[in-house]
Amino acid sequence: MNTRVAEPPKPGSDHDGLLVTNMRKAFFPGTPNEVVALDRVDLLVHPGDFVTIIGSNGAGKSTLLNAIAGTFPVDRGSIVIAGRNVTREAEHTRARLVGRVFQDPRAGTAPSMSIEENLSMAMLRGQRRGLRRGVNGNRRREIQDQLGLLGMSLEGRVSAEVAKLSGGQRQAVSLLMATIAEPRLLLLDEHTAALDPKVAQTIMDLTGKIVMERRLTTLMVTHNMELALRWGNRLVMMHQGRIVLDVGQKDKSGLKVADLVAKFHEVAGESLVVDRMLLD
Ligand SMILES: Nc1ncnc2c1ncn2[C@@H]1O[C@H](COP(=O)(O)OP(=O)(O)OP(=O)(O)O)[C@@H](O)[C@H]1O
Ligand SMILES: [Mg+2]
Repeated sequence: MNTRVAEPPKPGSDHDGLLVTNMRKAFFPGTPNEVVALDRVDLLVHPGDFVTIIGSNGAGKSTLLNAIAGTFPVDRGSIVIAGRNVTREAEHTRARLVGRVFQDPRAGTAPSMSIEENLSMAMLRGQRRGLRRGVNGNRRREIQDQLGLLGMSLEGRVSAEVAKLSGGQRQAVSLLMATIAEPRLLLLDEHTAALDPKVAQTIMDLTGKIVMERRLTTLMVTHNMELALRWGNRLVMMHQGRIVLDVGQKDKSGLKVADLVAKFHEVAGESLVVDRMLLD
């Protein structure tokens, strides 16, 4: 197995995908509770890449996605999305570039609003090319078309309150909301982890379909090594705030779960490691 970490990108270089350079993020800095959640993270993601990210609990996976989305400022380093340096931009300013889906199906949608209102909001937020504002008939038709692609019979229920949907249906709507405006970057944080295995599979298949069709540049965090190996064209492992493994398509296709476990034990350096990543 080739366990080399990719060459760090040149600082400040222009890039159409995602370029994270020398990023650091500490929580409670300068206190006894200081946690360095990200440390010297370099990541260059090419347009159209689908990167799966694994790592132990507390490795910094969610912090990496949050930092990219602008949930909080980083202490050091830079973030360039589609050639735009967003490092100091507020979260809502970056939102047009970034689509997100979280573990909790309730996180991505407004419960008291209808499916149509939720999707309409997502479309306007992204100001999708070709979308004519205020033409409700057209928008409704487009929303029905998009819902039809989910294969969950939701196209006939556009007026249903999102709160009334099942977890899987709601996560499918979240996925559609995150991608309908064709973001430059899609961030998925364990977005199938809270679902029943069968529903999780459906959402994962849908994810693959949408990502392929829209050629979305995607980062998907998962604690499930099988998923991380099966999906995407690149795999990254994080540990204690750092990227410890970064493999491209060629090396990834030869990897097995046992190789990842071995690598995990190597970096964790403990004889007995109990972690969600290993228990799945
Ligand atoms: N908002 C926050 N405030 C304080 N500490 C935080 C915050 N977010 C994350 N941390 C800490 O940063 C470290 C990295 O957390 P993070 O959530 O990124 O891990 P993770 O890899 O996503 O883990 P998991 O697999 O459990 O989701 C942890 O020690 C965590 O406690
Ligand atoms: Mg997390």
